Amino acid sequence: MTEDDGWNSSAEAWITEQGEEGDYGRRFVLDAPMIARIEGRGFRTALDIGCGEGRFCRIMRGLGIAPTGIDPTESLLARARALDPKGDYRAGRAETIGQETYDLVVSYLSLIDIPDIDTAIPKMVEALKPGGTLLVANLTSFNTAGPAEGWRRGPDGEPFFTIDHYMEDRARWVGWRGIRIVNWHRPLSRYMSLFLGQGLILRHFDEPLPQGGAPDKADRYRRVPYFHIMEWQKPG
Ligand SMILES: C[S@@+](CC[C@H](N)C(=O)[O-])C[C@H]1O[C@@H](n2cnc3c(N)ncnc32)[C@H](O)[C@@H]1O
Repeated sequence: MTEDDGWNSSAEAWITEQGEEGDYGRRFVLDAPMIARIEGRGFRTALDIGCGEGRFCRIMRGLGIAPTGIDPTESLLARARALDPKGDYRAGRAETIGQETYDLVVSYLSLIDIPDIDTAIPKMVEALKPGGTLLVANLTSFNTAGPAEGWRRGPDGEPFFTIDHYMEDRARWVGWRGIRIVNWHRPLSRYMSLFLGQGLILRHFDEPLPQGGAPDKADRYRRVPYFHIMEWQKPG
C-alpha cells in the first residue's frame, strides 16, 4: 500500500513472533512441505518476495541455493542482514521487480500483503527464467474470508469459524501480539486466474496439515483451512 500498511510499526513484534524457528504455522505446518519442494531440485538462484526478516532465505542458503530477498520494510531487512551478513537482501516491492532470470521465485505468505496483485504476479513470472519454478505458500482464501477475529462461539459454547463475502476483494487490518498489519482477501479464483493467465503450469498443490506442536493449536489448524502450497512452472 502507498499509505501505511502497519509493517514498519509491527516489525519489532514480528521479529519477536518469528524467533529463530518461525511461528507455529511456519514451524509446524509450512516449512517441511516448502523445503520438500526445493531440496535436491538443482535450483541455484532464488528470489524470495516479501522475505521479511529473512528466515526462509537462510533456510534456502542452507540448502545450497543463492537467494535474493526483497521486502519494502527496512527494519525487517536490517534484521535479515544482521542474521545473514553474506546474504543478499534488497529493498523492493513485488509490483516493481525488474526483469531477472531466477531458477526459483518464492512467495512465502506474502501474496496477502501485496496490494496490487494484478501487477505483482506478472512481475514474479517475469523474474523467472523459462522453465523456472514459482513456489507459493499462501493463507487460503477461505481463511482470509473470515472476520479478523475468525473464531466465534455458538449458543452451545462450541467454537466455530465464520466466513462471509467470499467473492469480494478487500483489505482488512488484523492484529495479534503487538502486530497490526493490513492483509488482503481475494477469492481463490482471483489468484488462480492470474497464475493461469501468465501461461503457468500447476505442478503441485497441497493443503498441508500440522505436524506437531501444541495439541490445541494443531487441532485448530486441522479444523479450519489455513494454508495452501502451489508450485507453478513457467513454460520452457
Ligand atoms: C507475512 S510477512 C512474510 C515474511 C516472510 N516471507 C516469512 O514468511 O516470514 C509479509 C511480508 O511482505 C512484505 N510486503 C508488504 N508489502 C509488500 C509488497 N508490495 N511486495 C513485497 N513484499 C511486501 C512485508 O514487509 C512482510 O515482510
